[in-house]
Amino acid sequence: MTLKVPENQTIVIFGATGDLTGRKLLPALYNLFVQSLLPQDFAVVGYSRTEMTSDEFREHQAANVAKYSRTGLDPEAWERFARHLDYLAGGFEPEGAMHHLAQHLEEVDAAIHGRGRRMFYCAVPPSLFPKIATRLGEEGLNQGGRIVMEKPFGFDLASAKELNRQLHEVFDENQIYRIDHYLGKETVQNILVFRFGNSIFEPIWNRNHVDCVEITAAESIGIEGRGAFYEATGVVRDIIQNHLLQVMSLVTMEVPASFSADDIRDEKSQVLRSVRSLDLNDVANHCVRGQYRGYRDEEGVAPDSQTPTYAAMRFMIDSWRWQGVPFFLRSGKSMAAGRQVVTLGFREPPLRMFRAHKQDIPAGRVNEIVIDFADPGSISTQFLAKEPGAEMILGAASMQFRYQDSFCTANSLEGYERLILDAMLGDQTLFTRADGVERLWEISAPLLENPPPVEPYAPGSWGPEPSLGRLVAPFHWHLSST
Ligand code: BG6
Repeated sequence: MTLKVPENQTIVIFGATGDLTGRKLLPALYNLFVQSLLPQDFAVVGYSRTEMTSDEFREHQAANVAKYSRTGLDPEAWERFARHLDYLAGGFEPEGAMHHLAQHLEEVDAAIHGRGRRMFYCAVPPSLFPKIATRLGEEGLNQGGRIVMEKPFGFDLASAKELNRQLHEVFDENQIYRIDHYLGKETVQNILVFRFGNSIFEPIWNRNHVDCVEITAAESIGIEGRGAFYEATGVVRDIIQNHLLQVMSLVTMEVPASFSADDIRDEKSQVLRSVRSLDLNDVANHCVRGQYRGYRDEEGVAPDSQTPTYAAMRFMIDSWRWQGVPFFLRSGKSMAAGRQVVTLGFREPPLRMFRAHKQDIPAGRVNEIVIDFADPGSISTQFLAKEPGAEMILGAASMQFRYQDSFCTANSLEGYERLILDAMLGDQTLFTRADGVERLWEISAPLLENPPPVEPYAPGSWGPEPSLGRLVAPFHWHLSST
């Protein structure tokens, strides 16, 4: 199979000296380059307020790539890659503030024969997106350009709508790429293949067989010096409104008419429209929030902060397929372990014919499909089997698929690599459409507007467990504190 390689183009990174650029974007671009997935000729132009020369920028980013790239840094490859990088200092205001960038881009475009193909990556807070779009429009850089925006897209439903409105004044929807890097993960994309590429799972993928679904993104790390960002964001805006609801939509959507970007996004939107709205006065019965002890001592965090670093919640989906099946979503920082897992718990067999079960079999849940979507990822099924011996005693058994056992994983792309490549190719399948992002905010709105108080939890634990227990009862929660 020949891999598609994008046409020559320029990538402009706004927020080029920031954390995201250093940790994710430059390492991703470098790795794409190493795998020969970047165009024959291309340019990466960093743009930020900080004054620095292009040489300083390259030096700064070499250190980042050495630290964060999954393949490390090969000096010879870096040397070749770095020839494509340069840097321009500047702001986004007032009018005309990006004129020097426009002039520079014209020269760059001529040098690489890019024919005006440009991708603008906004690695900046969402409040700056409209300003950037306006400036690009003034310079005519919206013509043939694509704009990529980081999450969270807005702050709430009203701001997301306003943002969409402002962007649509300058860009068409098919030029706008709202990024959610979870969708770039191989293991998350595989959810659709698992469901729709096989015939053995889909028939049981519904309310007749599934008892409940859990989706967890637990991180053992804390906020890692991002105090100011996190304080204003919290776990609902950082992970649940985007990453976890996106994963839920892939687990629950109907089969799309085709695998085109819009058919897939139509089905995702459809199932998200069926998510039951939480009653504003009843959020506390559907949600638990927590904050790890020590969070308030982090730099940039208020001493009386009420920002949640943990949240767990129950959603219901009012559709034929999912009526009555609870979906438990949970995410937290500073937890006992880093786990990214979807667990489908299946109904009990109609009859318990076998009396003797081993002690270690969890009550009320013998069959599960567990999709571990943390890199490198696996899928397993849990079931009961007869223990060898004279007596009929049942024990827990499992079958597991691990990517590295079945495939050569050397070619797998990290989330940002995949998404940057897709944006350069003009493929919007893994990006969120305007209606999708607005619906995600709508679903999250009650959790932001009238949430229950935050409960403290010990760092390195599974969060405020007694409250979680009340939320999920009578279901058995897959991950325990042991
Ligand atoms: C980001 C969040 O979107 O995702 C971070 O802002 C979080 O807080 C990160 O740590 C997790 O992503 P990954 O790919 O490392 O699991």
